[in-house]
Amino acid sequence: MLVFAHRGASADAPENTLLAVKAALTQGCDGIEIDVHQHGDKLVVIHDHWLHRTTNGTGQLKDHSFEALQQLNAGSDERIPTLWQVMECIAGRCLLNIEIKGVSDVQLVLDNIEKAIHELNFTLDHFIVSSFDHHLLRSIKAHNPDLKIGALTASKPIEYAAFAQALNAYSVNADVSFVDEAFVLDAKQRGLKFFVYTVDQPADLATLASWQVDGVFSNGPGKAKAFLAK
Ligand code: G3P
Ligand code: MG
Repeated sequence: MLVFAHRGASADAPENTLLAVKAALTQGCDGIEIDVHQHGDKLVVIHDHWLHRTTNGTGQLKDHSFEALQQLNAGSDERIPTLWQVMECIAGRCLLNIEIKGVSDVQLVLDNIEKAIHELNFTLDHFIVSSFDHHLLRSIKAHNPDLKIGALTASKPIEYAAFAQALNAYSVNADVSFVDEAFVLDAKQRGLKFFVYTVDQPADLATLASWQVDGVFSNGPGKAKAFLAK
């Protein structure tokens, strides 16, 4: 079972910062998940479009210039990184799940991935682009059919994984609070991988492993890896 660091190793460093990305790499994760918003023609790595929860700023991302955002403290004196800075930091050493939140121009994401393949040690296989916004995922897939997409869901649909199959997704990425074996089996029968967020409890890891879930997003990837290795 693959272990992705959720927002980087966010139990040990401020979420979605380069410090959290570095900690995840040190902990030997298989992949790193980060959240991305568009800000003008830039892509910034932050979970919320409001600043107050994770930085010393106030208001929304759109209220500030890119230069002003760069001055904010995102915890432990870290900055809000750009997607490109995260890519440079990882440089192909593990998988990268780019979760797109507030992004209107998917071409910006695709351009970053293409550049990372040419300039850093990534291949296309290193990337998964996921979103709760399935319209964005459909657009990504239309632009690049070979790029893996993860269809996020915060609910258990009546037709289980049919929505992800319709998108030609690589994976269903579902919340641990409602995942059951029937949902996992349905996805697998449709040829989809099944990933679960956010998994920090050993008991959940054990259950998900027994259902042959393909991957988890964990705030403490090192601990999750150590538990699964037992
Ligand atoms: O991608 C998995 C997970 O990160 C989705 O939820 O709110 O933590 O971005 P959230
Ligand atoms: Mg996320």
